[in-house]
Amino acid sequence: MGFPAHRPRRLRQTPLLRRLVRETVLTPDRWIFPLFVRAGRNAREAIRSMPGQFRWTVDRLGEPVDQALEAGVRAFILFGLPETKDEVGSGAYAEDGIVQTAIRELRRRYGSSVLVLADVCLCEYTSHGHCGVIRDSRVDNDATLDLLARTAVSLATAGADVVAPSAMMDGQVQAIRRALDERGFTETPILAYAAKFASCFYGPFREAADSAPAFGDRRAYQMPFHRREALHEVALDVEEGADIVMVKPALAYLDVIAAVRARWPLPVAAYNVSGEYAMVKAAAAQGWIDEARAVLETLTAIHRAGADIVLTYHAVDAARWLRDGTWDALL
Ligand code: PBG
Repeated sequence: MGFPAHRPRRLRQTPLLRRLVRETVLTPDRWIFPLFVRAGRNAREAIRSMPGQFRWTVDRLGEPVDQALEAGVRAFILFGLPETKDEVGSGAYAEDGIVQTAIRELRRRYGSSVLVLADVCLCEYTSHGHCGVIRDSRVDNDATLDLLARTAVSLATAGADVVAPSAMMDGQVQAIRRALDERGFTETPILAYAAKFASCFYGPFREAADSAPAFGDRRAYQMPFHRREALHEVALDVEEGADIVMVKPALAYLDVIAAVRARWPLPVAAYNVSGEYAMVKAAAAQGWIDEARAVLETLTAIHRAGADIVLTYHAVDAARWLRDGTWDALL
């Protein structure tokens, strides 16, 4: 027998061999593209810290959706910037709220050829920017649950396919599941932001969604950078009826994604958040990294760690690079 018997390089010799044994195969079927919707008409407003991403008015929402569909991306998650905000975030559960209006418009235009997810949180709608209602200068968990449940019902009523609670209130999945079931939405899935860390990587999103807290921070509800506690949070959301569990952010928490994947049979999502996007865009703009390669490696890593689904601002570009052969040439 020649030495060595094993030569891993045998399977690396040609593009077709490498393709045959590729462990992680990327597809836009598994990506969700976030969209920011704002009040007003005929506007497409650039988001400074997220180059290539925009705030759209409802009348122009067809532009990014058509581009995404053309690239092969069919799932969207909506975030809203309301006209006005108040102490209790009424805009989140208003029948004519910004996201409710956007969902109805997407349903009218695209029917079931798009999958519409709706983020369920109050921070974009509260004057103080916190994810729940304030009592004695603290976010009141149980008083917030009712409002989150109302928000989820209102988004499902508008036509959302999936609701995605992100407020990190204890018991939010159960409160939302009950409220949806009582109103006949027994078939509406919940994608739970189960392990959501108090991360600096949401910075650009808070500019995009105008949702930075006016005082304090989110450390009393979002998680410290712990792994066991993340698994506890996921366990609770699974018990409460989550259909899909999410880890957020993705890149600093690949170990958590892997641990969740290993312990639960449910689909696992990961949010490749705004700050992760901004870092790639900023370095690429300086010519310090190659954007397409960086995104290919990043999305491969998140899926390889165990995420079935990735929410990413790169979704449309990535789908184009898949389709036009840019990525095949790199693999
Ligand atoms: C709402 C929410 C946030 C994100 C998604 N939903 C912001 C936050 O928790 O402060 C962040 C997404 C991103 O950074 O891309 N609570």
